[in-house]
Amino acid sequence: MDKLLIVGSLNMDMVADVDHTPLTGETILTREITLIPGGKGANQAYAAGKLKADVTMFGAVGEDGYGNTLLENLAKAGVHVENVIKRKHTATGMAFITVNKEGDNSIVVISGANATMSVEDIDLGRKLIESADIVLLQMEIPVETVCYTAKLAKSLGKTVILDPAPVPDSFPAELYRYIDIIKPNETELYRLTGMNPAENRMEEAAGWIRERGVGNVLVTLGEQGAYLDSELFGIVRIPAITVQAVDTTAAGDAFTAAAAVKLAEGKDLCEAASFANRVASIVVTRKGAQSSIPTLEEVLAESF
Ligand code: RIB
Repeated sequence: MDKLLIVGSLNMDMVADVDHTPLTGETILTREITLIPGGKGANQAYAAGKLKADVTMFGAVGEDGYGNTLLENLAKAGVHVENVIKRKHTATGMAFITVNKEGDNSIVVISGANATMSVEDIDLGRKLIESADIVLLQMEIPVETVCYTAKLAKSLGKTVILDPAPVPDSFPAELYRYIDIIKPNETELYRLTGMNPAENRMEEAAGWIRERGVGNVLVTLGEQGAYLDSELFGIVRIPAITVQAVDTTAAGDAFTAAAAVKLAEGKDLCEAASFANRVASIVVTRKGAQSSIPTLEEVLAESF
């Protein structure tokens, strides 16, 4: 099986269940806050570990209790964490998350150690990239570090997968050239292209990204499944699976990781996307980020 390397963020999530997402200027009450391991990078790594991939995490935490907890949780899922940097005098990343009654979330990330992941760190970790087959990236570490990693990985012949969340104000056009598969959700797709979401120009938006050098654009559509515009398969729609969503946190992270796991097993991108859709459908029925990610056995036991 091919080896996965995740380069990205680790956060301790502080999750508050709320009746509704607070409006601008509004104060609302909730009874408690729950601490759950998260971070878009770490969620991908955790999901890949649970799905039995050979997966390594590369990122940074602070020298604090939250950092240790995050690494222990990843290690329990079988993720190689030895190379995660423990940064002195820096706090581990945190995320404040509200989840409303519809299961939709709203997230503020306090980057902490994630913001310290530098190009020099990537050079020091070059061996990790050399020994991986598939490199997964997201945008919760500095954009220049993402771009540098993608460029290096691509030059070494690796498959590069980017979840462009959160989409930065200025997304470097150069980055598109180093990506084999990009996995935005619908909002992120339109944000990247500058198109108006209300106009619903999915094909055009995915085509816009393809023209910039990305071989495959895989868009998650929530309750409507997923959409693939692929250099090999053309346009493919992955049908929705109907479930009762309670919390969508980490569904996109798990989707990306699950697709990568199947590619690592030698499956094609259509099969990979379809498996990823099944995994994400389970994630949204459970609360939290890493707490919601199923084992391989649980995915295989699902009848959908
Ligand atoms: O994608 C979900 C993740 O986004 C959360 O776990 C939170 O940490 C933020 O990074």
